[in-house]
Amino acid sequence: MSDAKRPLRSAQWFGAADKNGFMYRSWMKNQGIPDHEFQGKPIIGICNTWSELTPCNAHFRKLAEHVKRGVFEAGGFPVEFPVFSNGESNLRPTAMFTRNLASMDVEESIRGNPVDAVVLLVGCDKTTPALLMGAASCDVPAIAVSGGPMLNGKHHGRDIGSGTVVWQLSEQVKAGKITLHEFMSAEAGMSRSAGTCNTMGTASTMACMAEALGVTLPHNAAIPAVDSRRYVLAHMSGMRIVEMALQDVRLSKLLTKEAFENAIRVNAAIGGSTNAAIHLKAIAGRIGVNLELDDWTRIGRGTPTLVDLQPSGRFLMEEFYYAGGLPGVIRRLGEAGLLPHPDALTANGHSLWDNTKEAPIYDEEVIRPLDKPLVPDGGLCIVRGNLAPNGAVVKPSAATAALLKHRGRAVVFENFDDYKARIGDPELDVTKDSVLVLKNCGPKGYPGMAEVGNMGLPPKLLAQGVTDMVRISDARMSGTAYGTVVLHVAPEARAGGPLAVVKEGDWIELDCLAGTLHLDVSDAELTQRLANWAEVQTVATADTSGYRKLYVDHVLQADQGCDFDFLVGCRGADVPRHSH
Ligand code: FES
Repeated sequence: MSDAKRPLRSAQWFGAADKNGFMYRSWMKNQGIPDHEFQGKPIIGICNTWSELTPCNAHFRKLAEHVKRGVFEAGGFPVEFPVFSNGESNLRPTAMFTRNLASMDVEESIRGNPVDAVVLLVGCDKTTPALLMGAASCDVPAIAVSGGPMLNGKHHGRDIGSGTVVWQLSEQVKAGKITLHEFMSAEAGMSRSAGTCNTMGTASTMACMAEALGVTLPHNAAIPAVDSRRYVLAHMSGMRIVEMALQDVRLSKLLTKEAFENAIRVNAAIGGSTNAAIHLKAIAGRIGVNLELDDWTRIGRGTPTLVDLQPSGRFLMEEFYYAGGLPGVIRRLGEAGLLPHPDALTANGHSLWDNTKEAPIYDEEVIRPLDKPLVPDGGLCIVRGNLAPNGAVVKPSAATAALLKHRGRAVVFENFDDYKARIGDPELDVTKDSVLVLKNCGPKGYPGMAEVGNMGLPPKLLAQGVTDMVRISDARMSGTAYGTVVLHVAPEARAGGPLAVVKEGDWIELDCLAGTLHLDVSDAELTQRLANWAEVQTVATADTSGYRKLYVDHVLQADQGCDFDFLVGCRGADVPRHSH
């Protein structure tokens, strides 16, 4: 179904035999590009988040070279360009602070340049949503290629997983079970190859979401970064994007409401990160799809978690690929009638079901059968109530089942500094039944919405052997973390949500399965507290200038995807012509 007669977008730059065409071509020719490369070939942008400061994306130049081979082979011409690389591990205050900034870079880089289609090189947590958001706002033909996960970490003869082992070992240090030296010795073993975090954290989750959404080739999510098949996939993606450019397979044909519903179901089956709820909403918003938090309840709840990966389970992404990867999971869902939209179109031109219906599964410990799930109902729980009128999120597969319904008294921390100052106090009035409440860590309150929602437990309780408590905040949680943690409370405290007025000793009731989160004070009392709170608010001086001001002024709440209000929507790829 090639449509080579359709004028290519890049012809607006390179196609004219006039002064403007001369200027556009001439400057490109300083790179040694011969004339025939400008003769009607699709120009394929390779949008690269390579950076040595984003270690999980540091191998992307090699990945780009393999994409280029595929583009050349299929008759296109590749042009690689850099975009802001917001890596999770180094960036302060948090990579989420710059997700929208990166998406703006991507959007304007695509729209303003002579490209007919793009390959999005993604990997670290926020690079995947940022590039999909930017490309979706332009609605050009696009395919994503993930960098792939690291090989399994190794420490003292056993496998260790990115991030998850940090949470585990640091709590063991606090509880006096291991030495600091032993803790530090795990560093090198945790990250021993190129690639992204190898647990089912946010990076792996978003790679799975991209594959489930249909914007990648099959198996994109799980092939290890250093496996030669990762580079074959990059090559094949380069070939395919040339066809997509010629056939005008834009993102809007892939990123439909049906595709997002498939992704929500897949997220439950893989035990995916809570961050997916924010990122999918933001991506959907850019392509004009209305996705609501309640879609996670409607589609996700009742779905068994089949993938036995850390942090919910035992294994790592390397085993996941060897066991059959995401196509195996989707096959399981489809055979059980749990794939909402099998006919959804994917980047290779086939439906999601066509791509997966015969996918082999080699290891049923890693990809479990339906009658032996890791968690019988692994869909994210959306809870609401007078403490979270616009919703909050809990990941039951990473929680303690007995705590999913709990009533306890609040131990309140006004912000993360307050938490750090007091959590280790031996006099802290806290028991294992208390509910830890952390305020002012939401999108505006801790600009970027830090991943501190899985706040560590009081050391004195850890020493007693307590391993989990109910924790509530307007923060996010790393996808590699675990615990009975209520996250993304909306509206956040800084925006005047009821979380702002929780007091020490208040009773709080959580019922994840019923979907409720209740602060046990009267409506009149809550109204009075909120009125008193509003009276004493002042604008924090740190937020009066620079990008931080733009962020705080315009970021939407977690239930709206934390996009900037002015970025929501698809603006297309048209741009006014400039005459030299
Ligand atoms: Fe980049 Fe985990 S820190 S993938």
